[in-house]
Amino acid sequence: MKIARFSRLGFILAAAGSAVGLGNIWKFPYIAGEYGGGAFVLIYLITVLLIGFSIMIAEMLIGYLGRKDGVSSFEDLAPKHKNLWKFGGFQGLAGLFIMIFYSVVIGWIFHYIVTSLTYLPSNVEEAEKIFNTMLNTDIFTQLFYHTLAFIWITYVLTKGIKGGIEKMNLVLMPTLMLILIGMFTYATTLDTFGRAVEFMFAPDWTKIDSNTFVVAVGHAFFTLSLGMGAIMTYSASMQKDSNLVTNAFWIVFLDTSIAIVAGLMLFTFLYQYGSGPAQGPGLVFISLPAAFYEMGIIGNIFAVLFFVALGFAGLTSSVSLVEPMVQYFINRFNWSRLKSSITMGLFFYSLGVIALLSNVDGYKEALTWNGKSFFDWVDYITASIMLPLGGLVMAVFIGFVVEKQRVESILRPQLGWAFDAWYFSLRYITPVAMFIVMLSLMEIL
Ligand code: TRP
Repeated sequence: MKIARFSRLGFILAAAGSAVGLGNIWKFPYIAGEYGGGAFVLIYLITVLLIGFSIMIAEMLIGYLGRKDGVSSFEDLAPKHKNLWKFGGFQGLAGLFIMIFYSVVIGWIFHYIVTSLTYLPSNVEEAEKIFNTMLNTDIFTQLFYHTLAFIWITYVLTKGIKGGIEKMNLVLMPTLMLILIGMFTYATTLDTFGRAVEFMFAPDWTKIDSNTFVVAVGHAFFTLSLGMGAIMTYSASMQKDSNLVTNAFWIVFLDTSIAIVAGLMLFTFLYQYGSGPAQGPGLVFISLPAAFYEMGIIGNIFAVLFFVALGFAGLTSSVSLVEPMVQYFINRFNWSRLKSSITMGLFFYSLGVIALLSNVDGYKEALTWNGKSFFDWVDYITASIMLPLGGLVMAVFIGFVVEKQRVESILRPQLGWAFDAWYFSLRYITPVAMFIVMLSLMEIL
């Protein structure tokens, strides 16, 4: 089967669309808050450059050389033990699993777009009550918007690489960037902007321990969409003579700058109008709406725009989370794109309903094991086990299994003198780091 090709810009926007997601705008600001601001941000930036960037290139290379779905690419590139290595491609399942909770969260965002139009909570307590009421009692609303998210994502997937994924990213990504830049510019005019900058960049080394490193690497992986074959699958549709290193650079650059812009903007608003930075996962759904309320009518406009941007970020990531398995069934089982997209869609949709219910009173108890709800378990298994494991497998695969001269012939001209450093790090540093991170995230260490 011939795989469709992205245009050059289309590839960068689609891959950046995958990377820029809820992780950047929802998760990054609150973990930066939780782990002490500047010192965490600095460690995060270093891990993105040292580990994230090098695995990004390795993952791209597998797709670029393989030119097929993940499983087939692994199989084709392995000189021997093909049946073993093809399991590397089944990492794509992690994407479907992530979607189980990701699409529920996108549903919340849709709901917030609609309600922010007319109503914002006047303080954090009220905001918290509204959020928790939705989360713990309102099955109908959550189900309604979860269904919308499922329909949107599945529809785009049925339209394929060019007419679906590329087209959506060409519209949504520039819009998202415009919204964020506009709101960020406004934030720079407020008095508290300086405090936000200080919070994000002034390092307080007392807050740093080994856990900070683990959280930073884990997040670098998640935010760059690494370890499950999203980037790999998109790279199978890259133009033939593309420069992988330049592409990887753009994706990492866009992903990181958007996280920082979003963080600075949110913290400025929270300092100026709200309760300050340290807040858990509820940051964007609780503290932020209450801060927008203080801005008056412009707050409603900002709130809607903000949630639209967040929703766009989530949708462009979602298609990349499902596409690897969609491709797999198309290539290996000769399914039509329609059948494959709808089947994968229904898979995450139905398990998503269970994830949604696992936060609702009355269902919660039956759907909680060891103190973690089904929703939290999915997050834990994917982010703490499957993604680091995927990164480890990809690094070992390119570092030791695929013939060096094959890797070198493509990357030496693109990386220049840095090729040897990259190859060394991929063989000896990245796998060890990934292994340690995985054990710590699993709370074994
Ligand atoms: N990177 C996205 C985010 O930051 C999430 C995501 C999309 C992802 N595709 C992925 C995470 C593949 C891991 C692997 O929200």
